[in-house]
Amino acid sequence: MFYLSASILSADFSNLSDQIRQAEDAGVDWIHIDVMDGHFVPNITMGPFIVETCRRITSLPLDVHLMIEKPENHIQSFINAGANWISIHIENNPNVHRTLQFIHSQGAHAGIVLNPGTPAQAIDAVLPFIDLVLIMTVNPGFSGQSFIPQILNKIRLIRKSLDQTNPKAILQVDGGINSDNILAVAEAGATCFVAATAIFKHPEGIVQGVNSLRQQLQKKMRLSPQIQEGS
Ligand code: DX5
Ligand code: ZN
Repeated sequence: MFYLSASILSADFSNLSDQIRQAEDAGVDWIHIDVMDGHFVPNITMGPFIVETCRRITSLPLDVHLMIEKPENHIQSFINAGANWISIHIENNPNVHRTLQFIHSQGAHAGIVLNPGTPAQAIDAVLPFIDLVLIMTVNPGFSGQSFIPQILNKIRLIRKSLDQTNPKAILQVDGGINSDNILAVAEAGATCFVAATAIFKHPEGIVQGVNSLRQQLQKKMRLSPQIQEGS
């Protein structure tokens, strides 16, 4: 099962409800909301107010990616606003188990995120406690950056660790995902794909953006049984 999570960072905010509905009608599975504070990352974006706005627009799962200092101080507000998934970075979390536990205690699913410069082993100790691992394939802060191909190896490594310790967890990737690289990323073991530019800035529109990502993923779904038969 593959999931597409549409990041509204590249949406036209003067038409947010229409943009989200188009993505939903085209078949995206989740809506990804990038929260940035100007400290953990150089950009400042959205807060609980936008999550609450998205909640009124769609019933799709809201996947909130926190790129902020002291995320533990804000988790409750995001869950109250309607977040279903909350992902926190490993890099700025001295008490990461407590924060993950808190997310679960408030009824949301918990994700752990790694920046491109963070080694796969950094999350080993938390793998049994998470519902999702988000591997950044760009340095977080902005949409429209280029996918870093060297991260494919980290995706393979974390796929292996998850298969051993927590096979039900979702392996999400975020940054520069498009129809040219999504198949390779799926082959490496990712199961959930965040895309902003490839969906909301597709030259032929949102529906075509979603379709071209899905078409690539369908190739992987068709290929897998043959690979298994031959192996
Ligand atoms: C980057 C954000 C991403 C971003 C992806 O810091 O976490 O979710 O919106 O944008 P694209 O798909 O354009 O790389
Ligand atoms: Zn993100």
